[in-house]
Amino acid sequence: MSKSVLVSVAWPYANGPRHIGHVAGFGVPSDVFARFQRMRGANVLMVSGTDEHGTPLLVQADKEGVTVKELADRYNRQIVQDLAGLGLSYDLFTRTTTRNHYAVVQELFRGLYENGYMIKQTTMGAISPSTGRTLPDRYIEGTCPICGAPGARGDQCDNCGNQLDPADLIDPVSKINGETPQFVETEHFLLDLPALADALADWLKARQDWRPNVLKFSLNLLEDLRPRAMSRDIDWGIPIPVEGWEENPSKKLYVWFDAVVGYLSASIEWAYRNGTPDAWKEFWQNPEARSYYFMGKDNITFHSQIWPAELLGYAGKGAKGGEVKALGELNLPTEVVSSEFLTMSGSKFSSSKGVVIYVKDFLKEFGPDPLRYFIAVAGPENNDTDFTWDEFVRRVNNELANGWGNLVNRTVSMAHKNFGEVPTPGELQEADQKLLNLAEEAFAVVAEALEHSKFKQGISHAMHVVGEANAYIAEQEPWKLAKVEAQRERLATVLWTALQVISDINVLLTPYLPHIAQNVHETLGRQGVWAAKPQVVEVSDDMPVEPVGVGVPELGQQYPVIMGDYQEQQAKWQRIAVEPGVPLEKPAPLIAKLDPELGETGPEWAPVQA
Ligand code: MF3
Ligand code: ZN
Repeated sequence: MSKSVLVSVAWPYANGPRHIGHVAGFGVPSDVFARFQRMRGANVLMVSGTDEHGTPLLVQADKEGVTVKELADRYNRQIVQDLAGLGLSYDLFTRTTTRNHYAVVQELFRGLYENGYMIKQTTMGAISPSTGRTLPDRYIEGTCPICGAPGARGDQCDNCGNQLDPADLIDPVSKINGETPQFVETEHFLLDLPALADALADWLKARQDWRPNVLKFSLNLLEDLRPRAMSRDIDWGIPIPVEGWEENPSKKLYVWFDAVVGYLSASIEWAYRNGTPDAWKEFWQNPEARSYYFMGKDNITFHSQIWPAELLGYAGKGAKGGEVKALGELNLPTEVVSSEFLTMSGSKFSSSKGVVIYVKDFLKEFGPDPLRYFIAVAGPENNDTDFTWDEFVRRVNNELANGWGNLVNRTVSMAHKNFGEVPTPGELQEADQKLLNLAEEAFAVVAEALEHSKFKQGISHAMHVVGEANAYIAEQEPWKLAKVEAQRERLATVLWTALQVISDINVLLTPYLPHIAQNVHETLGRQGVWAAKPQVVEVSDDMPVEPVGVGVPELGQQYPVIMGDYQEQQAKWQRIAVEPGVPLEKPAPLIAKLDPELGETGPEWAPVQA
């Protein structure tokens, strides 16, 4: 069997539509990687879904005056549209409010608990002195003990991004009525990270090829491992599957305990929905299978520490021993691939401050590939980077439209006009051979970059070949050859050479620009699906599973998922011979140029702010 590659993509919170900062972090890089791996013949499973528990949803539901369930349903649907519209080729994009997810999360918790890695501890929880009721973390505000910013919430500081405990806040107050909360003893389950520290360190030290900043950050986390609460005083989330706890409506699992399990639960759901219920095991139990996790940098802790710790404890591999539980010994991440942040004209994206560019608006006006291109070539791969309309317009016009689009259009136009088909080349000259060699060698160069998630390097090299091909056309001047009958064979050779190189470049660009690649495929006179598109499908929550406790999702709810038949696509990572005699039509322009004024003003829905 070909090598199996799990592509695990961070789960966006269903608390609003996605903006381009989100998809720059987890979306486009993971899809480029997955598409490339499929083209190389790997057996790929790409999973994700919406993250629907946790305070970010509760806060937004309060703001919009709707129930959290309504909010989650609405934004789950919206996000599915956003991501499918961008062409992100998930094998399954689901959600965390499915019965299957609840059941798998509870199985993980139980395994950890039975193996001794979930310790019950009395900690300090907030109550309202006037009502005596528990105050959920999100309703407590105070000064952040880490960065000193005012208005940090009991769960998290939005200023520095750190996860907090309410008891850490300086001068805490209740957001409900301004009173000072009282801290009383409350019980929680803590993940015994110190007992897993050695196993974590062994795993992490064996990691190779990670982006240096991610590995360094992750290794640093090992320095200060303390038990960490995996239950919360909150009424929205997955019930804790322990007697006496599962019926308690105000104690649930911590959102991050549950969300990371999504990679596994989604794989299980994918296998079920495909009619091959055991197929997930190849990706999780075969030690040869590889797994790559894509996210923004604020998620690293959870993927290089909490999730591997959950997996190690579930397999009984910490200092307390234990046994391998029912789902078997599960693979730890091969690599955690994290991006930095995308800012907008120098500011952090913020829906509330109106500093935002929504994916849905972007897609409506420009389609998916210009955004995919911008993110790949100028996104926050290794550094925080800035989106400006000016740079977007410049790159689309100069690089995509004038560079790539124009190369395809003028070459195919000339071939169509002079031959009506792919011409038969005569003897190749040195310049022809040189360009053909460059294109052929590019397969290995770009593959090497993509294997290591160096997306910028990969696309830059592909665009370098575009530049060389344009220079070749400029030198050979086929429009002049076309005027001289005696040069007809030379004309055929030049156009055939250019067409072959266009075909090669199109392969190299397919992971990045799958929609444009499909058009180029057809422009070259080829048929069928070159790069498959993801599909949105309505499914029913009907898996044969038994989650326990209060507030478990009802059986039979309908929800949209993203799936796709990526087997049917023709795209492969290799040169396809351009066959003389294939009829060529007059091509339609491939990439629309943008009005340069857009660079100064921005669109109406996201104007450049003075
Ligand atoms: N919802 C989280 C965020 O947007 C990401 C969760 S990734 C997961 O930051 F894998 F844990 F789900
Ligand atoms: Zn802070």
